Amino acid sequence: MSSSLGLTPELVAYLARVNPPEHPVLARCREETQRLPMARMQISPEQGAFMQAIVRMISAKRAFEVGVFTGYSSLAIALAMHYAHGGAARLLACDINEDWTAKAQTYWREAKVDGIIDLTLAPAADTLDLRIQARETGLYDFGFIDADKTGYDAYYERGLMLLRPGGVMMFDNMLWSGSVADEGDHSPDTVALRTLALKAKSDPRVFSAMTAIGDGLMVVVKR
Ligand SMILES: C[S@@+](CC[C@H](N)C(=O)[O-])C[C@H]1O[C@@H](n2cnc3c(N)ncnc32)[C@H](O)[C@@H]1O
Repeated sequence: MSSSLGLTPELVAYLARVNPPEHPVLARCREETQRLPMARMQISPEQGAFMQAIVRMISAKRAFEVGVFTGYSSLAIALAMHYAHGGAARLLACDINEDWTAKAQTYWREAKVDGIIDLTLAPAADTLDLRIQARETGLYDFGFIDADKTGYDAYYERGLMLLRPGGVMMFDNMLWSGSVADEGDHSPDTVALRTLALKAKSDPRVFSAMTAIGDGLMVVVKR
């Protein structure tokens, strides 16, 4: 699990106390994922709670996620959509890793939201292209992007096509542990994140705002 940039352990504990109680299956997913070597990839509980607030605010019924891992963020999104729409909600979950997503599926089943989640194991740009070809453009309310950083622009463009006007997309890791502010860092991931942030800022198709939640969360609202 990553915690929000710059937060002391005391503030992380405070946020846990004042935020809504974490769903028991989310808590187990977080605790068990801590034992994995890639645990840092998981979003923090406060980020999950914030995303659930946005999903509820826009009453999202249909969503996509790029980057499932062991399922924490997808479960948070699915629970928030299920709260409002029950079995009529749908989450398209995109990943390429069979082992991690097998674990995710156990948590979705335990939380009884597996019926609203469609897991697709394939490069996410291909999965989103297929949904565009299937005429699903403009049908999605919410999207969360948390996978390969050099793919973010492809997900941004495809996600914009799938979102309805007023729909919201969130991009994780946009501050990349602070690397984006290091002018000497020209690694492909850092450059991809910087380029997307500037593109979204001046893109007339969206309103975008960068926040320091987690490792940097960019919120994009489709006009
Ligand atoms: C940072 S983790 C996602 C963490 C997850 N959102 C959570 O909160 O636990 C990134 C995930 O993206 C997946 N991924 C990487 N490249 C991908 C691609 N081209 N298409 C789909 N998924 C990809 C990885 O397999 C990994 O599970």
